[in-house]
Amino acid sequence: MEDLKSQINLVKLPKHIAIIMDGNGRWAKKHGKPRVFGHRNGVQSVREATEAAAELGVEYMTLYAFSTENWGRPVAEVNALMSLLVQTIRKEIATMNKNNIRLQAIGDLEKLPPKSYKALLEGIENTKNNTRMTLVLALNYSAKWEIIRAVKQLAKSSKDGTINPDDITEATFDASLSTKGIPHPELLIRTSGEQRISNFLLWQIAYAELAFLPIYWPEFRKEHLYQAIIDYQNRERRFGKTSDQLTE
Ligand code: FPP
Repeated sequence: MEDLKSQINLVKLPKHIAIIMDGNGRWAKKHGKPRVFGHRNGVQSVREATEAAAELGVEYMTLYAFSTENWGRPVAEVNALMSLLVQTIRKEIATMNKNNIRLQAIGDLEKLPPKSYKALLEGIENTKNNTRMTLVLALNYSAKWEIIRAVKQLAKSSKDGTINPDDITEATFDASLSTKGIPHPELLIRTSGEQRISNFLLWQIAYAELAFLPIYWPEFRKEHLYQAIIDYQNRERRFGKTSDQLTE
């Protein structure tokens, strides 16, 4: 593992890594257990990913913990996920403070069950002065929801005269998203073998490198993050230019 870690070029580290944590249910099924068993085991993977990223010096990590569409799951599973969230946040605050990690969240947070919302706000408040890495949880999040919300906000501002529609730029739009102030992810990882974006950070991943890993989320360990970063560093990010232009 140390060998893998030493292959990472710390100068070319992605500033922001986003992860779609997928495959908890399938992992549980493979082990003949109920789906919540998969979610519970997924928490260890959250720890591994967070620790590995912070140790390397990644500045932001965003985890897709609950999508707007996830409300459609069986009530018992939704409830289990929500209480797991409360428990995990409460339990991990001390470790986050010890490791200087700040908690943030994106999504339609006020619509979370009051207990989860409260635990989340407490976690954010209690870690707000930490500076090593920001861990962003996407909760009741969907990229289309976020984009529509930004459009409404800009439309209102132009109606009341605080913004001229001609002055709307990528930067103004960025500042209207819930990720305001956070750099766009350079690397997006999805576990479980599915190759989809599933309504996650659609605007922000315009130029992200995508890594689809053939493992279920509860199997994710530090070395998977290391390998994904090594692969990312071996790719050529051209941003629409030619290879030759990049070396000029
Ligand atoms: C996807 O697997 C996973 C989720 C929808 C939830 C992720 C939640 C956790 C890892 C636990 C708590 C997280 C935090 C940040 C405290 P799936 O259920 O869609 O799996 P499947 O596709 O195999 O059914």
